[in-house]
Amino acid sequence: MDSTIFAIFFIAFLATTRAFDPCPTLKPKSDASDLSIIHIYGKCSPFDSPKPTSSWATTVLNMAAKDPQRLSYLSSLVASKPVTSVPIAPGQVINIGNYVARVKIGTPPQLMFMVLDTSADTAWLPCNGCTGCSSTTFSPNTSSSYLTVDCATSECVQAHGLSCPTVGPTLGNCLFNQSYGGDSSFSAMLSRDNLQLANDTIPSYVFGCIGSVSGKSIPPQGLLGLGRGSLSVLSQSGSLYSGVFSYCLPSFRSYYFSGSLRLGPNGQPKTIKYTPLLNNPRRPSLYYVNLTGISVGRVKVPIAQELLDFNPTTGGGTIIDSGTVITRFVPDAYNAIKEAFRNQTQGPFSSLGAFDTCFSVTHEEVAPKMTLHFSGLDIVLPMENTLIHSSAGSLACLAMASAPNNVNSVLNVIANLQQQNLRILFDTANSRVGIAREICN
Ligand SMILES: *[C@@H]1O[C@H](CO)[C@@H](O)[C@H](O)[C@H]1NC(C)=O
Ligand SMILES: *[C@@H]1O[C@H](CO)[C@@H](O)[C@H](O)[C@H]1NC(C)=O
Ligand SMILES: *[C@@H]1O[C@H](CO)[C@@H](O)[C@H](O)[C@H]1NC(C)=O
Ligand SMILES: *[C@@H]1O[C@H](CO)[C@@H](O)[C@H](O)[C@H]1NC(C)=O
Ligand SMILES: *[C@@H]1O[C@H](CO)[C@@H](O)[C@H](O)[C@H]1NC(C)=O
Repeated sequence: MDSTIFAIFFIAFLATTRAFDPCPTLKPKSDASDLSIIHIYGKCSPFDSPKPTSSWATTVLNMAAKDPQRLSYLSSLVASKPVTSVPIAPGQVINIGNYVARVKIGTPPQLMFMVLDTSADTAWLPCNGCTGCSSTTFSPNTSSSYLTVDCATSECVQAHGLSCPTVGPTLGNCLFNQSYGGDSSFSAMLSRDNLQLANDTIPSYVFGCIGSVSGKSIPPQGLLGLGRGSLSVLSQSGSLYSGVFSYCLPSFRSYYFSGSLRLGPNGQPKTIKYTPLLNNPRRPSLYYVNLTGISVGRVKVPIAQELLDFNPTTGGGTIIDSGTVITRFVPDAYNAIKEAFRNQTQGPFSSLGAFDTCFSVTHEEVAPKMTLHFSGLDIVLPMENTLIHSSAGSLACLAMASAPNNVNSVLNVIANLQQQNLRILFDTANSRVGIAREICN
């Protein structure tokens, strides 16, 4: 069977070489709204003297203690803030299946294309010298604002840091290991540096600086966590964005950074329908919503209520996720959806990779539209969000699948392919999610 359709999911690494200058010249700021901050204790700081007298670890601890100051600084930026809009492109610009945003980190800023993940909190990216990473890495030693985070801090606990090492060269640093994508893992050192999102700089942002990677699923230029938990963009930006952001993902076939991650209440759609956000204390990062049913054409698919019900104990229910490529329903729900879809489409049906309901494109016109029913909000999916075409163009497939048979098999995930050209608005302050059609190709 034709499998080139999945070429976009293959990882290929871009080879680039860069020259490093330990203390680059600080360029004058041409842009008045550029709020970059040079850390005064950084090794490239122009405020070089007097040097702090305490030990480095103490310095870092003192700095963590100044977090309240940092948060009040962030609040001071909120007044009459212009719209913050970070460009988004499909990951094919770096040969991955996910969506990436243009993000800058460090002083002077280094550009990274980081995967947007609404189900993760801690950001991480490959750092210079990383084993198993691609050649596009962040270089801490050329950033004057880079700092490591001590293993005795609350941030280290939040990032699930390993216990403090008692010997060795990384003494006092917060190291953590994380698995990702089912088959990959990395180890990283918790760090801080200035994170630039469009024209906003979030000073001293906590993230993992990856030192080694195993497996092929780690996004090559890192991941930006937009979840609801601690250490996510919303948490680390204090009141800067008032707990509000939205994104529009362009068509996954687009090559351009035409989508946007819009941070803060300014510039958000005025007329948009909302569904309540549900809170699961056991999975605090996730954006659960109440999916009450699915229609295929005019048929309300018969799905047992318990397959959709929110259940904080088992983790069951439905989340909206920007870090997964195709929507997955728990097996019995998916089978019912598939049957309703096949009933209204002309076969024969075949499989292609993860998709089991593929048919000749010549029958595409009769394919039924799908509607997702949420509490207070119905979304009729555009056809491009329901069907995916084989690269040869002869087959159309229902672009959804059954949840894999593992611990998450109780969770329904509304993923990227079903979110193209929609504006998804996360309003954590009012505990709701809005969805509206918006073409952002
Ligand atoms: C930065 O760190 C990397 C990896 O540790 C090293 O290879 C490189 O030489 C360093 N660059 C400078 C300018 O110190
Ligand atoms: C973390 O990962 C590193 C490198 O893969 C490994 O050597 C170390 O044992 C891991 N530590 C834990 C606690 O899993
Ligand atoms: C940054 O600010 C400048 C001028 O203040 C504006 O022209 C530009 O569009 C802004 N960039 C972004 C990405 O918002
Ligand atoms: C989800 O919606 C259904 C149907 O309206 C309702 O019975 C149920 O209580 C809702 N669940 C939550 C957790 O709000
Ligand atoms: C599919 O069609 C069959 C035969 O008409 C019917 O029995 C079944 O209920 C339909 N299933 C769905 C989910 O619509």
